[in-house]
Amino acid sequence: MNDHLSLKSLNVAIGSAKILQDVNLTIFQNKVLAVIGPSGCGKTTLLRTINRLIEEESQARVSGEILFRGKSTQQIPLTKLRKDIGLVFQQPLPFPMSIYDNLAYALKYHGVKGKDSLTEIIEANLKLCGLYEEVKDHLFMSALKLSGGQQQRLCIARSLCVEPEVLLMDEPCSSLDIHNTKLIEDLILKLSAHYTIVIVTHNLQQARRIADYTAFFLDGRLIELNTTTEFFTSPRAEASKQYLEGLFG
Ligand SMILES: Nc1ncnc2c1ncn2[C@@H]1O[C@H](COP(=O)(O)OP(=O)(O)O)[C@@H](O)[C@H]1O
Ligand SMILES: [Mg+2]
Repeated sequence: MNDHLSLKSLNVAIGSAKILQDVNLTIFQNKVLAVIGPSGCGKTTLLRTINRLIEEESQARVSGEILFRGKSTQQIPLTKLRKDIGLVFQQPLPFPMSIYDNLAYALKYHGVKGKDSLTEIIEANLKLCGLYEEVKDHLFMSALKLSGGQQQRLCIARSLCVEPEVLLMDEPCSSLDIHNTKLIEDLILKLSAHYTIVIVTHNLQQARRIADYTAFFLDGRLIELNTTTEFFTSPRAEASKQYLEGLFG
């Protein structure tokens, strides 16, 4: 199995607070990894460190190494890194422009030109994310008028249209209803044939439904990386067992 991303002795501090400590984590290609753990254990910081958003935090210090296809992410130009590794936030954040322009903007930003090809790519990605039928008659309506679930699917389509290799998702369903959650879970399962997906979730059943691997974090440390089946049926670490039994978090 191919390592797509490897985190090696990763430490992240913000000011004097140690947020992630000595994280060693392998993320396998074309698999779904669920990242779980109590609130505040560093899940969001982990994703923001992978695509280097953390560096925009003036107080942040990062040590250790993240290898993407074997190459240090520090040696990859930021726009290229963020094209190849997309990030979908917890709260859907469409740009304040039309549905069409949300994707067109991303495509133009990454150098895809030509109106025909733009429209083709935009339609294909809206279809992939199960949004096209719902929006095809008002592609030029403001994306902010969509429902939360539609906005989140639009944000996923926007990440996908520039053909990333990895998709990082930070609790993408936490503010969504069952219908939209199911649509996004089905989409993740479909995407996993071609993409590496890391999904942070507080919903253990969601991790069970969609993830090949599960990584459990506690207080900024990786406690256990295991196959999802093993993690939920016979976790190795005592803290994992206690977490699954609902003793904390
Ligand atoms: N910008 C920041 N400045 C200071 N502390 C932060 C910052 N961002 C996150 N933290 C702290 O880092 C810890 C982990 O946060 P976070 O990664 O958001 O956790 P999670 O996503 O697992 O809830 C928390 O204690 C949080 O308060
Ligand atoms: Mg978080």
